[in-house]
Amino acid sequence: MQANYWHDKWEKGEIAFHQFKGSPLLKAHFSALELPQGSRVFVPLCGKTRDIAWLLANDHHVVGAELHEPAVQQLFHDMEIQPDVIQREDLGLVHYHATVNDRIVDVYVGDIFQLTPELVGKIDGIYDRAALVALPLEVREKYTSHIRKLSSTAPQLLISFDYQQHLMPGPPHCVNAEEIAKHYADDYIIQLLASVDVEGGLKGKVPAKEEVWLLQKRS
Ligand SMILES: C[S@@+](CC[C@H](N)C(=O)[O-])C[C@H]1O[C@@H](n2cnc3c(N)ncnc32)[C@H](O)[C@@H]1O
Repeated sequence: MQANYWHDKWEKGEIAFHQFKGSPLLKAHFSALELPQGSRVFVPLCGKTRDIAWLLANDHHVVGAELHEPAVQQLFHDMEIQPDVIQREDLGLVHYHATVNDRIVDVYVGDIFQLTPELVGKIDGIYDRAALVALPLEVREKYTSHIRKLSSTAPQLLISFDYQQHLMPGPPHCVNAEEIAKHYADDYIIQLLASVDVEGGLKGKVPAKEEVWLLQKRS
């Protein structure tokens, strides 16, 4: 059900979430994660985001997960990278892999819940933009627990939306401070880095704030 929804959106070209120049909020706030060069950054539900190119250009390795294979093909096409494509029928996944200027990019095509810590390997940081907010409430609990397990609670830069959910059905869903705390406060210290008005409203109609959170593992 959930997968069909997204395949349908991609096929119809209804991808208003895609930012052709990448996210200005990533560029403004990524340094808050304080990751050294050569860190491995996980980008869940990555679509064909240009942010992956930015992370590679800024000397990080990237691991992505995305359901819709043509989006991943487009991602590599846009980066002018020819990936190796490895079928993982045992896991129901396809693994796109490439090395660019000594930086490695791995994107797993399929359901993120098929990924295991052994498969993805070490993750130093997570960049969640339009991932948690893409999922319905009943999946968000499972997602946040899965993300923690996959990454050993790696620090996160999380970008979410806060708005009156009753004014519009998601996605993107409203995931406010209270809900973020519910999912993550036991394991992370949560800090709000920025809260900006969405220009013209979400989907051009609903007043909303786009919020940037830094999540750091509790010691
Ligand atoms: C709102 S888009 C965000 C894409 C990207 N993060 C960006 O900023 O452009 C959400 C993406 O998640 C993908 N997706 C949804 N459910 C998924 C799942 N269970 N596993 C992997 N990808 C999924 C969709 O195909 C879609 O590309």
